[in-house]
Amino acid sequence: MKILVTGGAGFIGSAFVRLTLGDGAQHSLVNVDSLTYAGNLENIASVERHPGHSFVRADIRDAAAVAEVFAQHKPDAVVHFAAESHVDRSILSPEPVVTTNFMGTFQLLEAAKRQGVARFVHVSTDEVYGSIPEPLDADEQYPISASSPYSASKAASDLLALSYYKTFKMPVMVTRASNNYGPNQFPEKLIPLMISNALEDQPLPIYGDGQQVRDWLYVDDHCRAIHAVLAKGSPGEIYNIGGSRALANLDVVHRILALTGKPTSLLKTVTDRPGHDRRYAITSEKIERATGWRAQMNFDLGLKSTIEWYMANLDWVARVKSGAYRDYYQQNYSDR
Ligand code: NAD
Ligand code: DAU
Repeated sequence: MKILVTGGAGFIGSAFVRLTLGDGAQHSLVNVDSLTYAGNLENIASVERHPGHSFVRADIRDAAAVAEVFAQHKPDAVVHFAAESHVDRSILSPEPVVTTNFMGTFQLLEAAKRQGVARFVHVSTDEVYGSIPEPLDADEQYPISASSPYSASKAASDLLALSYYKTFKMPVMVTRASNNYGPNQFPEKLIPLMISNALEDQPLPIYGDGQQVRDWLYVDDHCRAIHAVLAKGSPGEIYNIGGSRALANLDVVHRILALTGKPTSLLKTVTDRPGHDRRYAITSEKIERATGWRAQMNFDLGLKSTIEWYMANLDWVARVKSGAYRDYYQQNYSDR
């Protein structure tokens, strides 16, 4: 099967590319990515020259460029990762978030409809459910209640993708994963930021009381779940993908301090995120029943190997951080 992957130079997309082109690859990939601050071809250096991999630098908001990729490569399936994926950036600068996440998805759906693809997996997030009160775990019927421009743009794109199933009978499936962690994640999200700051003896910024809860999913478990949906999912369906490892942020950060051997004096309470969701919690029973997928990675082992990856790749961290990221954040959040 020829799969058009979008965002395959980013954190999760690059893990999907590496996994798919690993031993005994059964699929070939066309990897479309515009290489924003979060897209880095180093992430796929190990498979860049694989015969089953073609990279196209293109912006998914550009209808003509998207049409050309489809015309040239005629993919059988689409796995759509490309997005502006960071909540804090979506608060500071919502425009690229709305245009990429919504209009970019629209351009892909249109091109895929014309092409008549056999499968379209729209990769989304559990953030679309908003904060979930204890003791509930959201299933796929749980109402959407997005809090940030990021989550609202993802919720809107989920609805648009599902409308292409209802209206045009396109074989669209939507996946909603919880917080991913693992190697090659740009150091702006909780786990990679805390690891890289700890390794550099920099303060670890804790938003508010640090008791917000997230469910942690190892990135390769997420990628295997997407393959399971690609192979066995039913068109028109939504599949939650969770790690079954809910932890308060401070608990995660204390584990990082312990594993890096750094002192708790590095913790620094900073201004809370506006509209901060208190708790994310989902059930993955549907995907488990439908495909047999289960999250495999134990959180403590996954966190340890992620820290080891960052320790061995401090040059990667320095390179990605030397971009516009640092100035942008320092200008906008003076206490972080
Ligand atoms: P990321 O920010 O690491 O990577 C995004 C990739 O998309 C980058 O390579 C970037 O260059 C590319 N991109 C951005 N705008 C583009 C555009 N207009 N045209 C073409 N390419 C563009 O993101 P990630 O964390 O790997 O997330 C991937 C997907 O998974 C997103 O759709 C996100 O909403 C979803 N998701 C992420 C998480 C998480 O914890 N990171 C959890 C659930 C769902
Ligand atoms: O739930 C899935 C979502 O997880 C994905 O859709 C998003 O793409 C991804 O960014 C992530 O969103 P979060 O907002 O949950 O992730 P983030 O890593 O930004 O924050 C996790 C928690 O840690 C959240 O409660 C805010 C807090 N936090 C984050 C940062 C960056 C801090 O306390 N300090 C920080 O510096």
